[in-house]
Amino acid sequence: MSRNVVIVGATSAIAQEVARHFADARDRLLVVARDAAKLQAVAKDLVARGASGVDELVCDLADLAALPGLLSKLAEAAPRLDVVLVAHGVLGDQAEAERDWAHAEMLLRVNFTSVAALLTPVANLLEKQGSGTIAIISSVAGDRGRATNYVYGAAKAATTAFASGLRNRLAKKGVHVVTINPGFVATPMTAHLKKGPLVADPRSVGQTIFRAIEAKKDVAYVPGFWRLIMFVIRHIPERIFKRLRL
Ligand SMILES: NC(=O)c1ccc[n+]([C@@H]2O[C@H](COP(=O)([O-])OP(=O)(O)OC[C@H]3O[C@@H](n4cnc5c(N)ncnc54)[C@H](OP(=O)(O)O)[C@@H]3O)[C@@H](O)[C@H]2O)c1
Repeated sequence: MSRNVVIVGATSAIAQEVARHFADARDRLLVVARDAAKLQAVAKDLVARGASGVDELVCDLADLAALPGLLSKLAEAAPRLDVVLVAHGVLGDQAEAERDWAHAEMLLRVNFTSVAALLTPVANLLEKQGSGTIAIISSVAGDRGRATNYVYGAAKAATTAFASGLRNRLAKKGVHVVTINPGFVATPMTAHLKKGPLVADPRSVGQTIFRAIEAKKDVAYVPGFWRLIMFVIRHIPERIFKRLRL
């Protein structure tokens, strides 16, 4: 039976790759993004790949007041939500966030507050339904604050904690929550950054995320070696960590 799959932030390079796997599986997709033209192109691609239907919803997720309306539209479009993947995010500029609170506030709002604002009613809906999977793209940046991106990292740390709490709450209600922690992925978000040897491509990352959703993993590091890297980084004593240039 075809599932109803919601992809929030569907124009993201990573989300597009995940969505293609659901299209291959002939699922029905409800795609949400702020740029109507880009969203239309994504929807067209998913239809061509075999999705059993694609509904488009345009929404600026930085506009918190618009989010309750978004959920009503999703609930109207599908009688049952089987998978909700939240993928939108913005890396921003750490130096600007240090100078200008408005920029820092936008990073916190897009990367965390909007996720919590959206998932609060989504979680209640799935809880009532007694089934479904919520997949949340957080980041390894949320595992420990670093000088070069701690505002983005703080938002992702909050997202990781929120996802953990949701999982703990909803596990008893038939609803699964998977936290996805990608490392460095070559997407438009990181196009301006120097690429190191650990950079992953969005296609393989998308496949790993799809598999983590299907396997009902709790926390997936993508690629998997980031679990070990972040274990080591989290355990560096603060007196040493504060001297490192990271
Ligand atoms: N790339 C990495 O190295 C990396 C590492 C760890 C975690 N992540 C996370 O992975 C997720 C996907 O990112 P990506 O790498 O695929 O980057 P991307 O291609 O730049 O995608 C980011 C997406 O977020 C959307 N977005 C940003 N602000 C929005 C808003 N206010 N309303 C609606 N949509 C908004 C963007 O929409 P527009 O197209 O309209 O701008 C874009 O589709 C993000 O949560 C990111 O934090 C990425």
